[in-house]
Amino acid sequence: MCGIIGYAGELQAPDVIIDGLKKLEYRGYDSAGLSVFNNGEIKTIKSIGRIINLEELKNKNQDELISNVGIGHTRWATHGKPSEKNAHPHFTDKVSIVHNGIIENYLKLKKCLEEKNYVFETETDSEIVAKLLDYYYQGDPIQAISKVISRLEGAFALAIMFKDQPQKIYGARKECPLIVALGENQNFIASDINAVLEYTNKYYNIDYQEIIEISKDSVEILDIDGNKIKKQINIANWNVAAAQKCGYEHFMLKEINEQPQAINSTISPRIIDFLPDFNYDNIDSDYLKKFNKIFIVACGTAMYAGMVGKDLIEKIARVPVEVDVASEFRYRDPILTKQDLLIVISQSGETADTLAALRLAKSKQIETLAIVNVVGSSIAREADKVITTFAGPEIAVASTKAYIVQVAVMYLLSIKLALVNQKLDKNQAREYIKILMQMPEAISDVIGLSDNIKNIATKYQNTKDMFFLGRGLDFATCLEGSLKLKEISYICCQPYQAGELKHGTISLITDNIPVVCVATQTNLFDKMISNIKEVKARGAKTIFLTTPELETKIEKEIIDDIILLPCIKDIFMPFVIVPVFQLMAYHMGIIKDCDVDKPRNLAKSVTVE
Ligand code: M6R
Repeated sequence: MCGIIGYAGELQAPDVIIDGLKKLEYRGYDSAGLSVFNNGEIKTIKSIGRIINLEELKNKNQDELISNVGIGHTRWATHGKPSEKNAHPHFTDKVSIVHNGIIENYLKLKKCLEEKNYVFETETDSEIVAKLLDYYYQGDPIQAISKVISRLEGAFALAIMFKDQPQKIYGARKECPLIVALGENQNFIASDINAVLEYTNKYYNIDYQEIIEISKDSVEILDIDGNKIKKQINIANWNVAAAQKCGYEHFMLKEINEQPQAINSTISPRIIDFLPDFNYDNIDSDYLKKFNKIFIVACGTAMYAGMVGKDLIEKIARVPVEVDVASEFRYRDPILTKQDLLIVISQSGETADTLAALRLAKSKQIETLAIVNVVGSSIAREADKVITTFAGPEIAVASTKAYIVQVAVMYLLSIKLALVNQKLDKNQAREYIKILMQMPEAISDVIGLSDNIKNIATKYQNTKDMFFLGRGLDFATCLEGSLKLKEISYICCQPYQAGELKHGTISLITDNIPVVCVATQTNLFDKMISNIKEVKARGAKTIFLTTPELETKIEKEIIDDIILLPCIKDIFMPFVIVPVFQLMAYHMGIIKDCDVDKPRNLAKSVTVE
């Protein structure tokens, strides 16, 4: 949700900033801008649309932008439509700023400043920060920033330039992520380390009420009273190649293909003697034994990984689980007891609602466990326990490999919970783990079906609506499948529990409407077939996902298209169903000429409510 970069060094700042913004573009991409110091002035350019437009503008104005120090921003609009005026940086004669987040009290602050004759030109909340800094600045940047951040309510990450401090960039944050990265003869401020991995993998995480000052050869982190703070340097273990396309046409396709490796990396350190073992994460059996109930809270795809988790934990470990959308959980006054465990799941570790749900549980002294992909993210830092997934950087806005590793952790966790609660013995647990270890290969087999999946996508490319039907665990996968298709190809699709359709929604089934029918759960198979017949009788076109074994039991007349999945134990089917959905969404998006890596209106990291 908006990407920020600041640079001070020996290279041309506009080039480094544009380069960094391209890496941050997944955080928002409706407009962009940059400010640099040039000849005692702050020069600013802005453009609507993608970073490439800003780059063209920069190339046209090369001479005026020669500089080694500057800040940049890629925007995901919250207040005010995408326009040049609303794009960042926002500036006054003294100061230029870029902002990520939402300033909730900006109207109140705006009114105060208008009374002091400040004139506002944009529809944004961010402009208030520039004007407020201008008001407070009297030659001491730290003092001015300190005064400003103490007046701001809401969420922010800021990068700031003062006209009379031409070698320096300043920054501060609350809720929204911000790091300081340390290079040789150059330093950076950024929303995440990906933006600058090409130059360095060393960085500091910044906390609320800390102010950063960087120049080419110095980095200071200060508290709001101006005292220096010592922090631990983090080393990112993601390399540059991990955040590049490496020959793939799109990040999404690359990341789908990386799933087998991502699962291996995530489960290997947590399997010992074919049994789940979370000592790697400092989580032992006694810890897991004490919970009577589990809440899984997350957003979007991460929440759907939680839905698979609920099914597994309840089935295998017999521990009751509630799954909640974080934005609902945080406001619904959930009934929590000291014997409950709150699990939050998040790729980015920065999702505002998920973070708030975590804080809510912590405020009630409920134990919290985070399953997170980004090391050092806010959620990872605040949870009591953390299981890091090793998907590597996920650049495509739609989640694929991050989902599959979250699901893999859910399997490990449910088997471990079953062991500690004596619902499985060691031999039974080992059987499960051995199957889990085969999942990377099974996914590779499914990825091999890509052409078949593409043909089906081509056949239904003109449809406006679609349904995904499943029961039990198959329904949990339908939720993710339908979200993928919606966000990537803009087809309106409904995931439905197959048995529920006849209670109203079946009225939407008309001639030729494609219905994806997931029928992989043996105990629910006959029921599922009856439900499929109900839609077939109303003219639907059926796209079956099932196994060769179950296919033999289906009457040919009710099958329009079919994708045959590897025969594996029912409970593991999500691993092979979801990659089919990801590829279906990918191919449909490409056929329909959609930007599959950056779907419209979305941002990768949702750091506002
Ligand atoms: O970073 P998080 O996992 O917390 O993000 C949660 C959702 O915003 C995310 O999964 C979103 O639904 C994606 N667009 C799914 O592809």
